[in-house]
Amino acid sequence: MQAAVFFERLWSRYVEMAPQAQKIHDQVESSFGPVFNDHVAFRTFDRPGYSLVDIEFAFLNMGYRKAESYDFAEKHLQAYSYLPPHDGLPRVFLSQLLSGKFSHQLQQVVEQLLSDPAHAQGDPAERLLQGRPWPMPTQAQYQQLLQESAYAAWLSVWGLCANHFTVAVHQLQPLASLQQVVESLQASGIEMNPTGGVIKGSAEQLLEQASTLAELRPVQFSRADHSEQGSRHSEVGSCYYEFARRHCDAQGQLYQGFVAASANHIFESTTVQTRDTHGKEKPQ
Ligand code: NI
Repeated sequence: MQAAVFFERLWSRYVEMAPQAQKIHDQVESSFGPVFNDHVAFRTFDRPGYSLVDIEFAFLNMGYRKAESYDFAEKHLQAYSYLPPHDGLPRVFLSQLLSGKFSHQLQQVVEQLLSDPAHAQGDPAERLLQGRPWPMPTQAQYQQLLQESAYAAWLSVWGLCANHFTVAVHQLQPLASLQQVVESLQASGIEMNPTGGVIKGSAEQLLEQASTLAELRPVQFSRADHSEQGSRHSEVGSCYYEFARRHCDAQGQLYQGFVAASANHIFESTTVQTRDTHGKEKPQ
């Protein structure tokens, strides 16, 4: 699949899951000029057919180059960045859950969800556009995952889709600071992820980042017998939108990497609350 077509289709899927992103995109464009994408991030499980090396073919086939690895020991995640074949395409940040580092119970839920080998096949780019290939978890399975990993719980519901797109603040014309962009969104009532400070990283680290909190979307968990009917309605956090401003190094080269400490906080943009449609908010 052509990379430009892939990212266009991916954006359409993303704004279906997070309609707020389209509004934010349009607001940034009307206030600051044309928006370019800095990077798109994806999540997956480290299981056969789903692991980072299975999924990365989508990007290697488009001419992307595997760049740097990042470890998030505390969250039991591993990630790689991928650099595009030309400037018109976004960078890619692909992470996977190291399921073996979690309890037997969590691993069992992951195995149950991924048990059908037919779901683990197909063109990886198409799979990233299709989202969740496995059945929707039951509420109990979701809660089991959530106890140990907000990342795993999110992934079980939303699947292999784009977790977030990212506005390249350094490409806005005329140039704006990340603070200006964030303030303009906050003035419209957009909630930003406060973990580690709204602005993560610094000019000295060559990368400043901020992100919205994932917006709550209605979902229907599977029933315990896995039939889709009559299942329980809830709202869970879906995708979020990120804003990144890259800086040039001493040689005048624009920084291409990621800052692990900032990314660690950005992951928490989906650690919001789950809400029963008929119940009260339960902070997680
Ligand atoms: Ni990101």
